[in-house]
Amino acid sequence: MPKTSMFSITTPIYYVNDIPHIGHAYTTVAADVLARYWRLRGREVFFLTGLDEHGQKVQQAAAKAGIDPQTHCDKLAPQFETLWKRLNISNNAFIRTTDPQHKSVVQRYLQRLYDENLIYKDSYTGWYCSFDERFWTEKDVESGLCPDCKRPVERLSEHNYFFRMGQYQNRLIEHITAHPDFIRPESRRNEVLGFLQTQKLGDLSISRPKSRLSWGIELPFDMDYVTYVWFDALVNYISALEYLPREKPVGNRFWPANVHLVGKDILTTHAVYWSTMLMALNLPLPATIFAHGWWTVDGEKMSKSRGNVVDPNKMVDEFGADAFRYFLLREVPFGQDGDFSQSAMVTSINSDLANGIGNLLSRTLTMIERFTNGTIPASGQPALPELEEKIARAATQLPTILEQGFNALIFRDNLQGIGELISLCDEYIDKAAPWKLAKQPEDAPKLKTVLNYSARALRLLAVSLYPFMPQTMALLTRQLGYEVDFSKALPVSAYHWDSPMANLTIAKGASLFPRIESLSGTRQIKGELEKKLKQGANPVSDTPATPQPVPTITATIPLATSAGVVTPPAPPTPPAPPQITIDDFMKIQLKTAKVLSAERVPKSEKLIKLHVSLGTEQRQIVAGIGKKYEPDVLVGKTIVIVANLKPAKLMGIESQGMVLAAGDADVRGLLTIQEEVDPGTKVK
Ligand code: MSP
Repeated sequence: MPKTSMFSITTPIYYVNDIPHIGHAYTTVAADVLARYWRLRGREVFFLTGLDEHGQKVQQAAAKAGIDPQTHCDKLAPQFETLWKRLNISNNAFIRTTDPQHKSVVQRYLQRLYDENLIYKDSYTGWYCSFDERFWTEKDVESGLCPDCKRPVERLSEHNYFFRMGQYQNRLIEHITAHPDFIRPESRRNEVLGFLQTQKLGDLSISRPKSRLSWGIELPFDMDYVTYVWFDALVNYISALEYLPREKPVGNRFWPANVHLVGKDILTTHAVYWSTMLMALNLPLPATIFAHGWWTVDGEKMSKSRGNVVDPNKMVDEFGADAFRYFLLREVPFGQDGDFSQSAMVTSINSDLANGIGNLLSRTLTMIERFTNGTIPASGQPALPELEEKIARAATQLPTILEQGFNALIFRDNLQGIGELISLCDEYIDKAAPWKLAKQPEDAPKLKTVLNYSARALRLLAVSLYPFMPQTMALLTRQLGYEVDFSKALPVSAYHWDSPMANLTIAKGASLFPRIESLSGTRQIKGELEKKLKQGANPVSDTPATPQPVPTITATIPLATSAGVVTPPAPPTPPAPPQITIDDFMKIQLKTAKVLSAERVPKSEKLIKLHVSLGTEQRQIVAGIGKKYEPDVLVGKTIVIVANLKPAKLMGIESQGMVLAAGDADVRGLLTIQEEVDPGTKVK
């Protein structure tokens, strides 16, 4: 069993046959989040990633590039290392299987198994897939095609060396049965067990004749052969410990690993090949092998030929490393397959990050600046005891929920739990209305409580989100005036709801997550609509994330229900309210909209600039409601807008719609929807 004070985590080592893609980034980010979390919790962490540089795939890629394999590897390796730096990956070691030290460990193990008669030479005839570098049996092959990659297979007969894998079948079944956490998620564990319980496990060919493949580690007992790439690659998890950690003593301090993170496609090689290799070598098995799902892209399999490979570097350029990291783990439950699209990413960034944690920080700091001169006050009197109680309970429970979530690798639930605390704080600020409390001197003790609670919640949110978004959360704590060294174990007080925050001086800075207005994400939404329309799809039911092609109307149709909140330039004033027909009314498209952000238009007492979501699109609306409302209270509300009003400019700012409110020249109340109604719902 791994020692509990240590935490050792690995990613697969990636083939250097091409540049890194989202699949590589996914596992590595997930491993980094775990590594960072456990470091903060005081565990000694060893986080290993690296490159798989031998085998047919790499040899072929080098041949294609017209260079020798080693030069090819040396050329591509920095691409991975640079990407990990850009994504703030905190790995403790980076292994390359062409490292001489790794090669000698592989050879040592091979020799040992050979000496113990656990490796033997035999001839084999079968169907060989050169792409997957493996033989298939008669029953696997259908119509002459590889069952895995569907490429043609060829009949091949050759002498090879075999590892006596089959003799470990029962031991492996027993191990999996006795250790429910050994293979996760559960569905994958059942798959592996099912296969082992119903099929005979054969021996594993661990060599390739040099005549067919020369790029590999030479067998120490037969120079005509190189090692099968998987036997070489899997050993990395242990060879790395012998020569890579900078700290001493090295060796097996970090073995067995707590978690091997892998994609679902390479679970068998880990759960079966690697486990039996370890059994043969008399080494303990890792505690958990966790297989995550695969990403499709805009609903399609990701592939070079489709030209839809997601380049993580581009995601960092466009959205920032932290937003990309967040999205990867928030969008899909870890273990399941998921779909990547830039529009989903834009939505997630705007709603969870810009409007969520980013907005909570900004409104809290603005109030602390305005009402208590930039110093976090101590709590005074309860302002809203019920909500305060709720926040205290959620905040007190959060650290335990996070620990359970990280133990179980359910990143998404952790982020959901964090999101709930953010929403609770927003609701608290909305309802407590500190800007009103600030107007009455007798309410000062309540005001202090609201500010203090918000600041304490932000501290907890920052330490909770740090493993996911290290760069931004370091900025957040700095703005909050909370000194914390994230490179070390955090003091217990950092997670304690009751730890004081009073008297810290805040330093409000730039917004953590600026809203994304019209990046390629938005362009993509348009592209998707065009594509679907071309395919004859119904844009409303098939593409909920796309704007509907509806006509725009001008502001000249008088609206009985509108208080004229957005006043288009020089609206004609009819002498008496004319009657309109139902046809006239049907021209007006009323829709619900969720306010994502709100700010005053400079130099205007009345105008507030709103960013609203209609679900399928986002709009900017300038509304004359500034005398009635503070911008902060509007955020999160579901309002009603005229959606097909021709855009108009107010004080030079374009307004793409009109907000409905009761009142006349003076707005008395905004039309809001109390129930949970999706933004963009039609209002009739
Ligand atoms: N070199 C082997 C691993 C050896 S580990 C001892 C290998 N390399 S790989 O580069 O082909 O793949 C590495 C990882 O990327 C795998 O875990 C695989 O599941 C993952 N992914 C490849 N495409 C993916 C997606 N589209 N989505 C998510 N992960 C995917 O296999």
